[in-house]
Amino acid sequence: MKNSFKTSFEFTKNLLTTGAFKETSRRVEIEICSKLPTGPNRVIVEFGMGHANISKEILRTISPSSKLYAFEVKEEFCDHVAALINDERLIIINDGAENLHKHVGTPVHGFVSTIPFTFFSKEMSNAILNQAYEALAPGHYFSQALYSKAHMKKFKNTFDEVTLKRFLNIPLECVHHCKKNA
Ligand SMILES: C[S@@+](CC[C@H](N)C(=O)[O-])C[C@H]1O[C@@H](n2cnc3c(N)ncnc32)[C@H](O)[C@@H]1O
Repeated sequence: MKNSFKTSFEFTKNLLTTGAFKETSRRVEIEICSKLPTGPNRVIVEFGMGHANISKEILRTISPSSKLYAFEVKEEFCDHVAALINDERLIIINDGAENLHKHVGTPVHGFVSTIPFTFFSKEMSNAILNQAYEALAPGHYFSQALYSKAHMKKFKNTFDEVTLKRFLNIPLECVHHCKKNA
């Protein structure tokens, strides 16, 4: 079975967890990684690894001495990626973004997230965003892709600056770049 078709099938089967029918588009993969730092020893966190299409772009972007902590709640997606990617910078965490503090103690120099905020309670969304803001090193970004800008207010309430880039694909894709000021 072709990989993209297999991924769409897995995403649709788990729609209430994934919040998507298919992988994020290539244009969004590139945009969502555009704020990542490329210097040495940076710590990056991904929320919602899926089948690792964006994780691969993150690994292409960051330096050889940096680390990527990738959170994913679906165990079979974690197993799939563990078998697919052999890169010692990638640390796969089979747990929810809401448990960030249990796994990552150091300052984070960039978040890349595709988790479905639309399906989360207000409490869970706030818990995730507040932890991310706390962990983020000043001057760095939490970048989130969603199918609409309906969650803009939440991001503006947590971060110091938020900019939006829209992609007129089907479905519409919106990348929010949320900054913690220095
Ligand atoms: C919209 S899919 C995106 C997958 C992939 N990153 C992409 O861009 O195509 C969202 C992913 O987030 C995962 N997910 C859902 N809730 C989560 C949570 N609380 N913490 C971490 N991952 C979660 C889903 O299982 C799914 O793989």
